[in-house]
Amino acid sequence: MIILGIDTSCDDTSVAIVEADKRGYQRGLAQIKFNILSSIISSQVKIHAQYGGVYPFLAKREHQKNLPVVFEKALKRAKISVKEIDFIALTVGPGLEPCLGVGVNFVKELAKELKLPIIPVNHIEAHIFANFVGNVKCQMSNVKTLLPAICLVVSGGHTQLILMKNFGEYKILGETRDDAAGECLDKVARILGLGYPGGPAIEKKSKIKNRVSIYGNEGEEEFEEDKSSSHPFAVARENEVLFAHKKSKIKIKLPRPMIYQKNYDFSFSGLKTAVLYQYQKSKTEFPFMETRGKKSSKRINPLLTPSLSLGRMKFSSPIKNKKYKQAMAAEVQQAVIDVLIYKTLKATKEFKAKSIILGGGVAANEELRRQFKVQSSLPTGRPTKFKVNFFVPPKKFCTDNAAMVGITAFFHYLKGESRNWQKIFVNANLRI
Ligand code: KG4
Ligand code: ZN
Repeated sequence: MIILGIDTSCDDTSVAIVEADKRGYQRGLAQIKFNILSSIISSQVKIHAQYGGVYPFLAKREHQKNLPVVFEKALKRAKISVKEIDFIALTVGPGLEPCLGVGVNFVKELAKELKLPIIPVNHIEAHIFANFVGNVKCQMSNVKTLLPAICLVVSGGHTQLILMKNFGEYKILGETRDDAAGECLDKVARILGLGYPGGPAIEKKSKIKNRVSIYGNEGEEEFEEDKSSSHPFAVARENEVLFAHKKSKIKIKLPRPMIYQKNYDFSFSGLKTAVLYQYQKSKTEFPFMETRGKKSSKRINPLLTPSLSLGRMKFSSPIKNKKYKQAMAAEVQQAVIDVLIYKTLKATKEFKAKSIILGGGVAANEELRRQFKVQSSLPTGRPTKFKVNFFVPPKKFCTDNAAMVGITAFFHYLKGESRNWQKIFVNANLRI
């Protein structure tokens, strides 16, 4: 069965061709095989970088321009013709309304012309199901050891903690009251002048030199069969990464918003504000903080080393500036990680969950993955006192992609949930 997956919910125009083998399911063997024949993503990062965030109407224009091209490319890469497609999987929400609309209009035309059914997909659910990518065999019989699960979807637009009782049966336990975690990292990166998107920029800045990637070559991992486990979800590999803040002499302490509150909600806008205040304060104390390049370096008096001070006024070299930003990046990343892990483990304990499932762009963060893996495997870890399974998609499939949309749709297709094009609408505020 060939599925065409499409996602235009934010700033990535994504099309994928997913092959799903449902024969196993029908035979009752409960084995589903997914094969990602192509997954093409046209990123608008360069366009939105100047705004430090996604500009919806610019994104819409880019989707309109790119979607037909990306679609053709996905077919070509998968070596299939449109006639071979069995159904279309499309993200209808949540997301940016003008962007979702481009996908909906495109798919309606296509479905009308090719007489194909459509499965509308919830973007948040798709981030959870991205965990099926990278596993060729999905043993549905293992559901008993998988569910109930606590899912943490953490991206640029969303931060939600979800109880998954069964496939398709969810309860939102908590969510962000203001900024999403990824949004916070994007804004902090902007304050620190680290570029966009902020999450990867902050991650990079947080690491010391010569680090070794804990996930090795992504390309290798991407479609690798998970032989170590018959579980349907990909398992992150444990390894060591050294981070700058552990070695840094610059001590910065940021708040962990709402961490000990008796709910599963989050708040990240205060964290961003704390960074802003501390950064502005540091600029007064270190007036040459922003010096860069030949022109500005002339302002630095070589006699004034970082150890010299005039009253409360301290002077800094560009090197110190770099170290300060490094320490700040590492601390803000850790603050986000602490809150996410603490609340997720708390929910795991309360709901006696057997698994923790991560998804969304921020789940690509190596330190978040590593700490989650360590914490969830601690038999006496806090606050959970039992071992849980931990699953996270291959890094490449944490951020927006259409393969996850195709995979999600397949489970709905099996339940007979397809619709015709007249019944497909955008729902920018769709809830899981
Ligand atoms: O899931 P996604 O691609 O789009 C939304 O649905 O929002 O997530 C994008 C977000 C951005 O905020 C980006 O900064 C963040 O995910 N992100 C990361 C990393 N890669 C992307 N955050 C932390 N570490 C990363 N490696
Ligand atoms: Zn997303």
